[in-house]
Amino acid sequence: MKIAFVGKGGSGKTTLSALFVRHLAAAGVPVTAVDADINQHLGPALGLTEEQAAALPPLAGRLPLIKEYLRGDNPRIPSADAMIKTTPPGSGSRLLRLDRPNPVFDACARTVRLDGGAGGEVRLLATGTFTEDDLGVSCYHSKTGALELCLNHLVDGRGEYLVADMTAGSDSFGSGLFSRFDLTFLVAEPTRKGVAVYRQYRDYAREFGVALRVVGNKVQGEEDEEFLREEVGDDLLLTFGHSPWVRALERGRSRPFAELEEPGRAALRLLHQAADAAHPRRDWERYTELMHHFHLKNAESWGNARAGADLAAQIDPGFVLREDGTAEPAGRAAVPQPA
Ligand SMILES: Nc1ncnc2c1ncn2[C@@H]1O[C@H](COP(=O)(O)OP(=O)(O)OP(=O)(O)O)[C@@H](O)[C@H]1O
Ligand SMILES: [Mg+2]
Repeated sequence: MKIAFVGKGGSGKTTLSALFVRHLAAAGVPVTAVDADINQHLGPALGLTEEQAAALPPLAGRLPLIKEYLRGDNPRIPSADAMIKTTPPGSGSRLLRLDRPNPVFDACARTVRLDGGAGGEVRLLATGTFTEDDLGVSCYHSKTGALELCLNHLVDGRGEYLVADMTAGSDSFGSGLFSRFDLTFLVAEPTRKGVAVYRQYRDYAREFGVALRVVGNKVQGEEDEEFLREEVGDDLLLTFGHSPWVRALERGRSRPFAELEEPGRAALRLLHQAADAAHPRRDWERYTELMHHFHLKNAESWGNARAGADLAAQIDPGFVLREDGTAEPAGRAAVPQPA
């Protein structure tokens, strides 16, 4: 299950994604956390020191390795250079699995033992910090491009999680990244600005059938609740209150996850239930179609010009990414297994 946390700057994306990751890890659920925000803060929120977090090898820095591995012997992709962030898998491509080692995880992931191991463990990946160049016109340099490629080549199953701490801005809308998740949690404070980001995201997400639920954060009292309920309606999944546990972490006096206040724990259980409930709604054909849609869009707007070729030819029309164990859709080619 692929889960994203998005929202306005400072709303609590990192805090809530780290808490959700801790909740899953404590329950023994296999979890991969991805720091995909402009400000890379997820590592420290999971207990790493700033130095340890900064030493994480960024996915973006290993793009050639990632491309070379994923393209496998897909005849539609003659070289790693020919791949852009939206290049879809096809017959011959190598796929990633969360429960198996691969050179991408070997190169970039780090295992973090939570609360000295008592809180379980998490595989942590980071896209890398953004530079000025990433935020402007040069969209193919986008740090999240490596993540998008990985998600488009990932076959994940029920009961295993990838949780991404995302940036809500145009970076994910510029590509198909925002559409790669089974469920997106939009973290919103009970303020006009928090709700404005929700509306913007909702409108974009609706167009592509992206499942979105709002998680109210820093909610204090009934007026806050009411405000969110009025502005967000049925999209509001739950609200998270002010947490002394989170404040203590912020002061550098972290406490074990087991000591998180009960309302917070109940909220995390609800997030987990909502995420699990998204599983039956997965539609791999639609997922594959969307990656083709965004690939064509990126190819036309800049990819073809840069590659000097028509990148539409990278699409393998007979290929559908699918979860292992489900029935193969009629008339579709079999999905290759990772080498
Ligand atoms: N429920 C909460 N209770 C207490 N403090 C909170 C809570 N949620 C978030 N905070 C605090 O609010 C601040 C912003 O939270 P956080 O860093 O998680 O937001 P963010 O959306 O990831 O921000 P950015 O956009 O900068 O990445 C932090 O100081 C965090 O400790
Ligand atoms: Mg953050």
